[in-house]
Amino acid sequence: MTARLLTRGCVALLFTALSAGTMGSVHAQGPDVGTEAQRESGRTVYVKYCAQCHGEKGDGQGYATPHLYPMPRDFTAARFKVRTTPNGALPTHQDLVNIIRRGMPYSSMPAWPELSDQEVSDLAYFITTFSPDFSNPEMVPKPVELPGPPSTSSESIELGKKLYEETGCLKCHGNLGRGDGPSAPTLVDEFNHPIRATNLAQSWTFRGGSSREDIFRTMSTGFNGTPMPSFADSLSPEQRWAITDFIVSLSSSNGPGYTNLVVAKPVQDAIDLANGVASFESAPVARFPIIGQITEPGRAFYPPATSVTVQAIYDTESIALLVRWHDMSAEKAGKNGPSLPVPPEEEESVPGAAPAAGASPFGDAEVAAPPPAADPFAEAAAPAAQASEFSDAVAIQIPSLVPSDARKPYFIFGDAQNSVDLWFFDLAGQEPVQLAGRGSADIATNDIGDVTGVASYDQGEWSVIFKRPLRTTSGAPFAPGQFMPVAFSVWDGFSRERGNRRGLTAWYSIYVEPQVVPSAVGPMVRTALLILVIELAVIFWVRRSYGYGARGELGGEPSHPAATRA
Ligand code: HEC
Ligand code: HEC
Repeated sequence: MTARLLTRGCVALLFTALSAGTMGSVHAQGPDVGTEAQRESGRTVYVKYCAQCHGEKGDGQGYATPHLYPMPRDFTAARFKVRTTPNGALPTHQDLVNIIRRGMPYSSMPAWPELSDQEVSDLAYFITTFSPDFSNPEMVPKPVELPGPPSTSSESIELGKKLYEETGCLKCHGNLGRGDGPSAPTLVDEFNHPIRATNLAQSWTFRGGSSREDIFRTMSTGFNGTPMPSFADSLSPEQRWAITDFIVSLSSSNGPGYTNLVVAKPVQDAIDLANGVASFESAPVARFPIIGQITEPGRAFYPPATSVTVQAIYDTESIALLVRWHDMSAEKAGKNGPSLPVPPEEEESVPGAAPAAGASPFGDAEVAAPPPAADPFAEAAAPAAQASEFSDAVAIQIPSLVPSDARKPYFIFGDAQNSVDLWFFDLAGQEPVQLAGRGSADIATNDIGDVTGVASYDQGEWSVIFKRPLRTTSGAPFAPGQFMPVAFSVWDGFSRERGNRRGLTAWYSIYVEPQVVPSAVGPMVRTALLILVIELAVIFWVRRSYGYGARGELGGEPSHPAATRA
């Protein structure tokens, strides 16, 4: 009895505490900046783990900063992306704790699972020392209301799609959410650095997390310091949940499902490039992560493409690979090439063409309302009109000789001993070419015209097909039942990627799945069975008529009862 009362008392207390938290008693309590001792112990951890990126002074100017994109947060500006508080407000202590613990996927901000709860909490308190705002009683953050999710339905997804369009999300994020809206190329953050509208079709890349609750929160609070506004005032919770459901539906799965193998499927009909992607329906999709290369000049730390998907088929003559990736805009003008030089001063700069001053209508971090949805394509004209200097491009890399052991050529365009074949497609042109690489400083043409291809760009996605004879004098043969090492590169012309500044994958493999020849065993077994049945029937017949007579002849004893009677 006493125990039950106690439990009830605890539950009641807990409830009061919880509701007080959300109802804003924190507000009444004044700034939550921890004790001197907590901040001091936070400093020790910070110097050890955080200063190389965020800087000793918390200004985001750590020694690693020139290489990082997005740049490490400047804590003196006191603008935080992932919060439960209104647009423009400071984060709560718990918000800081959560983001330090979880990190920000697909940026250099790591998760910190190894730090103790106390260390993370102390760090969060220490971060408040970088800006006087945190100790300003006027600026104590008050979380917005984040009601729990209703259940998902196909209607809510439909409604969400409609609202996504009407609210103008597509202006930045694009029709299918691939980050290719007409305003996307003009977006900048509060420091006037180019910033990409998140690819909403790849929820695993979300900095603020990809659960329904995370997406709802992002939409309700906005990302301070970026063009991503808050929709808490303009959309009801029901509407925000509907859009959340639509966003969840845009990703084919809730994770990237990375693999290390492309299975090339045999097809009956001769591969015809004119049939485009339709030819690849039977082929499984393999997704590979894109990384930046940071070991050779031309360093790209965070290429805008985060993954490519690959499918492969082959007929009796040729093999074909379909490579797809999301790209904010198609750069079909200019030029590109794997050996174009990248000047050192560009290596360390933030990628993305700097937009003309004032080009962004939504550059203001204080944007509270969604931009007018009137004419979503009005602004498309401006960026599209400026021809880019560098075109988009893609390359498939295979070893020039099928390796006999596990050793593969160096993954950055091969090495002196082990050269690679590059099937390179400058997407400003009509056809791929074949090159031979012996390292990035030694790339020569090796083109006998046997690699052909087609490319198309639709709604933020490139689809590029390469085709080559299975056996050719210009490269290693593909044979059923065999594995072939393969790697991929993509260049984003908009971000001035060319030469060694590009997104690339590690080595993976193509497995050429043997054709399942209509087997000869089945029919043989069937014929054998048939013969057996006929034989048995004949034996039975022979024994019945012949054996019967023989017995009669030999023994004179009729064995058949009927015969006795007869
Ligand atoms: C390798 C570099 C790196 C290290 C180390 C690092 N950070 Fe970060 N951090 C970043 C980057 C980059 C961002 C910004 C990501 C973005 O804007 O999307 C960031 C953002 C943040 C934010 C802002 C989150 C928000 O909602 O805006 C906090 C807080 C933070 N880091 C805390 C820490 C702490 C604490 C440590 C040490 C335990 C740490 N970081 C270590 C790179 C780093
Ligand atoms: C003015 C352009 C703009 C509009 C309009 C806009 N967004 Fe965004 N959104 C952005 C940018 C830019 C980012 C990326 C911020 C960053 O990288 O830090 C973003 C990020 C996001 C994210 C992902 C955050 C994460 O965790 O990484 C979601 C989800 C999102 N937006 C949803 C929406 C929805 C839903 C709408 C419409 C209701 C919308 N956005 C309208 C520009 C916009």
